[in-house]
Amino acid sequence: MIKISPSVLASDFARLGEEVLDIEKNGADMVHLDVMDGMFVTNISFGLPVIEALRKTSNIIFDVHLMIEAPERYAKRFIEAGADILTFHYEATEKPGELLDFIRDNGAKAAISIKPNTPASVLFPYLEKCDMVLVMTVEPGYGGQALIPETLLKVRELRDEIEKRGLNVDVQVDGGIKPENAKAAISAGANILVAGSSVFKANDRKAAINALRS
Ligand code: DX5
Ligand code: ZN
Repeated sequence: MIKISPSVLASDFARLGEEVLDIEKNGADMVHLDVMDGMFVTNISFGLPVIEALRKTSNIIFDVHLMIEAPERYAKRFIEAGADILTFHYEATEKPGELLDFIRDNGAKAAISIKPNTPASVLFPYLEKCDMVLVMTVEPGYGGQALIPETLLKVRELRDEIEKRGLNVDVQVDGGIKPENAKAAISAGANILVAGSSVFKANDRKAAINALRS
């Protein structure tokens, strides 16, 4: 089944709590929370206190995407703040395998992400430790960019490898996902689609979520 994870980066931050409840009501499977530190990416978004506050208002699955340097420094605190799935970047840490183990040991689903120029094969040694892999389909840092089509080849490579090994690992795509390219992402092997602008900026969010899923 295809799952939709709307990214609040495109929501109205002044009404963030209501925005999360709204996409939950409109059929989202989870909510994607983009944490940016101004170091791993040039943008700064929000962090622990915001996630902690949202956790009190919603029971939806929190899909937390850390775009921060040395994510091992904060993994435990993001889990305590309410992350159900915790994703960090392969490029941001020296010891990805240890961090994946740490996240699972601390009760969250463990996920690792690669930027558009990072080959899929770097993740092969870690697939057994992953609940999900995230293939960035744009350069991380900003919402509203266009999907880079070549990144879908990496989605295919990862899905093939996961199937070859008989693993149960979700493959997520993030960046520029809209109804017109969702089908290509799903055919390439993605089963969780992140969508910021195409959900939050839509006049009919329920229809937007359904359009992505079909
Ligand atoms: C980009 C973020 C994405 C972003 C997606 O760095 O990781 O989650 O919010 O937004 P759209 O769907 O608008 O490209
Ligand atoms: Zn993201």
